[in-house]
Amino acid sequence: MRTQVAIVGAGPAGLLLSHLLAADGVESVVVETRSRGYVESRVRAGILESSTVELLDSVGLGERLHREGDEHRGIYLQWPGERHHLDFVDLVGRSIWLYGQTEVTLDLGRAREAAGQQVVYGISDTAVHDVGTDHPSVTYTDAGGASVRLDADVVVGCDGSFGPSRGAVPERLRRTWERTYPYAWLGILADVAPSTDELIYAWHPDGFAMHSMRSASVSRLYLQVPPGEDVARWSDDRIWDELATRLGHGQDGWALTPGPITDKSVLPMRSFVMEPMRHGRLFLAGDAAHIVPPTGAKGLNLAVADVGMLAPALVALLKGDERLADSYSDDALRRVWRCTHFSWWMTTMLHTSGDPFDEQLQLSQLRWVTSSEAGAAGLAENYAGLPIGYRG
Ligand code: PHB
Repeated sequence: MRTQVAIVGAGPAGLLLSHLLAADGVESVVVETRSRGYVESRVRAGILESSTVELLDSVGLGERLHREGDEHRGIYLQWPGERHHLDFVDLVGRSIWLYGQTEVTLDLGRAREAAGQQVVYGISDTAVHDVGTDHPSVTYTDAGGASVRLDADVVVGCDGSFGPSRGAVPERLRRTWERTYPYAWLGILADVAPSTDELIYAWHPDGFAMHSMRSASVSRLYLQVPPGEDVARWSDDRIWDELATRLGHGQDGWALTPGPITDKSVLPMRSFVMEPMRHGRLFLAGDAAHIVPPTGAKGLNLAVADVGMLAPALVALLKGDERLADSYSDDALRRVWRCTHFSWWMTTMLHTSGDPFDEQLQLSQLRWVTSSEAGAAGLAENYAGLPIGYRG
């Protein structure tokens, strides 16, 4: 098989890239180890920043998002006794949209299908070859057991932290930075109307908690737990009790309404950045090159920004102009590091470690962010999202 761009990974980064390339007349094939059903049902974060929404709108992918998603003006930040709303629209003139990554992936899958895009699901033994030459390839075993070789002009790794693409950058050229946090999130989905109109991020001495949502009848909530926590230790009653305490049930008349829990999982918290994001004819985008902890909901948005920069670079490269491709890694990493800092900052401001000195610093930071317009605007600018191509 032969194509112009071989894309490894059919998550939002890979599917959006194929969509953007097709809009410029560039052909691609997307290959994916999981099934389409798995990719389209895995539970992920739910916040789209304004530049993500603008990009999706500009390429005809915003219709259902505007119809079924919810525009939020900002978020609540709280700690025992106090809840403050930060209004991003007032602070920086930009809003955010509540629309699950799962929905974005569904919309992309449908749009690509309608356009006749080839997406090959259920493959195994994926390997990337000859990226140092101008005839790279991807080999794999298809769902029927046949060995396939996909030749391309360019290979793009959108295959997350466990895919083979990251490892195709030679070790001697790779640099990585990593931080593992001493806590994890227990996330639940519940069939109950959200008890809040916008997201609540709560600092509490017992640990961070967050109230998010997926729709008018589905809530998504999180609790800080020790790393590697066993979900079996968390009965539904224990989860709701802990959420009520940490989110301030009863405070100023606010009540958390519990409901049937339909999904429970533990999410690790990690920051990771790898450089370069390009080696020869191999380009990396999204989680293949960087991981952020979920506080701040940057993972999907970063992947969209990478791909928004990569698509024009590949279109130009295939026409013989390598300038954007040559600067892609540096350009993307500038924004990646900004979001890496923001996610680390939100994470360390809100999660408790048991150290009393840290707790006082966190509370001081929270009071400053919620009382100073400059402090609030800094958070809002980063949360609502910096422009794609932002260099800082
Ligand atoms: C979510 O809705 O799942 C979500 C929202 C905001 C975050 C993280 C997760 O910071």
